[in-house]
Formats: sequence, structure tokens, C-alpha cells
Amino acid sequence: MSKAIQAIRGMNDLLPATLALWQRIEQRAETVLAAYGYREIRFPIIEKTELYRRSIGEVTDIVEKEMYSFEDRNGDSLTLRPEGTAGCVRAGIENGLLHNQVQRLWYAGPMFRHERPQKGRYRQFHQIGVEAFGIGTPDIDAELILLSARLWRLLGIRDLELQINSLGTTAARAAYRKVLVDYLRAHQTTLDEDSRRRIETNPLRVLDSKNPAMQALIAAAPGLHEYLDVESRAHFDALRHLLDAAGIAYRVNPRLVRGLDYYTRTVFEWVTTELGAQGTICAGGRYDGLVEQLGGQSTAAAGFALGIERLAELAAVQQVPGVEIAPQVYIAPLGEGRIMQQGLVLAEQIRDAGLRVELHCGGGSLKSQLKRADRSAARYALILGENELAAAQVSVKNLRTEEPQQPVALAEVADFLRTRIVGSR
Ligand code: HAM
Repeated sequence: MSKAIQAIRGMNDLLPATLALWQRIEQRAETVLAAYGYREIRFPIIEKTELYRRSIGEVTDIVEKEMYSFEDRNGDSLTLRPEGTAGCVRAGIENGLLHNQVQRLWYAGPMFRHERPQKGRYRQFHQIGVEAFGIGTPDIDAELILLSARLWRLLGIRDLELQINSLGTTAARAAYRKVLVDYLRAHQTTLDEDSRRRIETNPLRVLDSKNPAMQALIAAAPGLHEYLDVESRAHFDALRHLLDAAGIAYRVNPRLVRGLDYYTRTVFEWVTTELGAQGTICAGGRYDGLVEQLGGQSTAAAGFALGIERLAELAAVQQVPGVEIAPQVYIAPLGEGRIMQQGLVLAEQIRDAGLRVELHCGGGSLKSQLKRADRSAARYALILGENELAAAQVSVKNLRTEEPQQPVALAEVADFLRTRIVGSR
């Protein structure tokens, strides 16, 4: 026997037991997104590498070392999408969706980053992304946050902390960057290797370091807040008032900087302490310069993406139930020919009544079929043998109680089950 081929490290098979929770998340997300007027958009999983270089930023971890890039047969450099915002903006510009319009869009699907795999961090992972274009005021920042909060509520997810910050305009950030670089240079010896390298390339990211040895230095660093421009400060204050009025609790985290370069003003993250190191479930912010940077007309924009793996892991920890897919009724036809024909018809009738039915296929003894019925988690087994067929009946057996088995007319069994499983009509 030849050696079995295994999946690529960090890229997971998603099995039915896991997907029951994923489906609950996706269904609820679609309901919430529709309630806020967001419409779905789909764009390719592969784009030109240039798109990500120009949007995410040359000196970010993603572009420097995490992209799955390759040359196609024409010699073009292409990349598996590491995130969705860039592709969404590209598609919006190319299809004329963004100019002088308000667009509320969402997308879902796999993203790819060559990170070191660990719990909550994978090389193929899935996001639900939400983007709003054409609105520069903080009301849309608040709406995006309320939308995500509603999703947590609807799913029954508890204890997420909302952290918010403002990164100001590009100009304000440039002024702050100078001050920060001076500070970091003055403390070179305390910096770890990664941070020393970042002084020149991406000094703001030093503030994001999780290295315990650097926390004191980071805490004492000058804060971006002192360098915010007047408009950004007003924008941030207005957002805080809107959140207060909506009863959304948050913590201002002045060290929240995000790992992608396109953000301006508001940034936010929803964080849990229940998953270990990878505790950010959902993250985003405003990116007013990106559309223009990618060749469109200047357009205000804001959005976020949630990581489905992390949300599903948290949902499992908090014992959120998945969607129900187990059959409610198991039909055991004890024979072939006319019995099986009747079995197929009966299964359809009960499905028409809105119930989930598994029809036993492939034959077998009553005992073996009832064993399968029991394992299927169905509540009722319907036994259909020669005697039942002759009397136009089935024997109904409750698999979860001691109730005696009882005959029910074929014409009535769908109603009989529906009343017992779902309640009266
Ligand atoms: P991001 O912070 O890179 O932002 O990713 C958003 C979320 O995706 C994270 O909070 C996390 O839940 C999940 N995630 C990221 N990387 C991984 C990974 N390797 N394994 C598992 N989950 C992961 C963005 O992608 C932006 N495009 C969000 C955005 C939309 N900003 C504005 N609009």
C-alpha cells in the first residue's frame, strides 16, 4: 500500500460535527447582515500580488512573509488572498460600485496566510467580512460595531471585550511616527530583534509586541492620542458618544494599532480571554484612503472581518448549540420491492410535513436497523414489514422512552409524528 497523502500543515478538513456550529454562525450572520441592509459580494480567491502589496502595505508581516504567492503560467505574480478588504475594494472600483454611492457589502470565505500554525491560527482560515463605502461619519463605525454585537447576542456568545482606538489621519500618524522612532532609538538596547528591525520599517507595530520583556517600555512610550489631528479626535469622541448612547461597553486601548497599513482613524477589536493567545475574534476599522490608493475616486470606507474558526471555537467553549441536522425519524423497511417503494413514498410524505427523515437503505434485519436508528439520534423509528403493508400501517416505536410500540395508519403517520415532534399545528 502506498503512503497516504496528508493535508498541508495549517489547512484543516472541516468535518460534519464541526460544521454544525459553523452553519449556525453563518446562518445567524446572514440574518443579521440582511437586517442592516448589507448585500453579499463574491470575488476571486486569487488576485495579482500587486493588489496586496499596495493595500496591506509592503512592510507588514502579511506582505513580508505570509503571502502564498506564485507565478502562473504567463509569468504573472499572483497571490492567494490573505484577507478580503483589498479584493472587495478592487471589485468595487472595477464594477463601478463605489463612486458617489453608499454600498454596504459582505463576503465570506477562505483566506490564506503562511503563519506559524497554533490553536486559533491557521494557514487557511475563514472570515466573514463586512465593508461599508461612501460614509465618512462615525455613525457607520458605530453601526458596524452594533451589527457585530447583535451577532454575538443572537449566537449566545458572552464576555467579549470591545477595544477601540483612533489612528488619526495619515499626516497625524506620520508626525507621531517621528516622535516614536526617536523614543525607540533612545531605548534600542531594551528592544528585541524584531522590534529593532521595525524601528525603520513599521515602528507603530512595535507597540503591538506581545513580548513580556518589552511591556514596560511600550507602556511608557509616547501615545498616538497626543498627536491626533482635531478632526480625528472629534470623530473618535463622537463614536464614543454613539456607543455610550447605544449601551455598548468598550475599552479605549491606545496600543491597538492593527497589522494592516490601510487603517485611518477608528480601529477596533472584539477580544476573548477564553481561547489563549489568539483571542481576537473580530477586527476592523476605517480605511478612508484605500479606494483612492487602489485607483478609485476618493471614498470613505470602514469595515471588519471575523474569524470563523475562532468564533466557532469560542462558541464550542461556551456551549452554543450547532444547527440540528440529525434525523428525527428513522424508517426501517423490512424487505425490498413493494415495501421499499412504500418506504420511499412514506419518507417523502414525512419530509413534506417538515421533518428530517433517514430512510434505511441497503436492507438488513430488524435488529440491525433498529440499532442504526438508535445511533442516528432519531426520536422515532417506523417499522414497515409485510404485515404493516398489508394493513396500510406502520409500527411506530419511540426510541427514547419506554412507550409501547403502536400501529398508525400510513395516511396519518406524518401528522402523528409532526404533532409529537414539533407540537400541534
Ligand atoms: P485581520 O485582523 O487580519 O483583519 O483579520 C480579521 C480576523 O480574522 C482576526 O481577528 C481573526 O479572527 C481572523 N484571523 C486572522 N488571521 C487568522 C489566522 N491565521 N487563523 C485564524 N484566524 C485568523 C483583516 O483581515 C481585515 N481585512 C479586516 C477588515 C475588514 N478591516 C476593514 N475591513
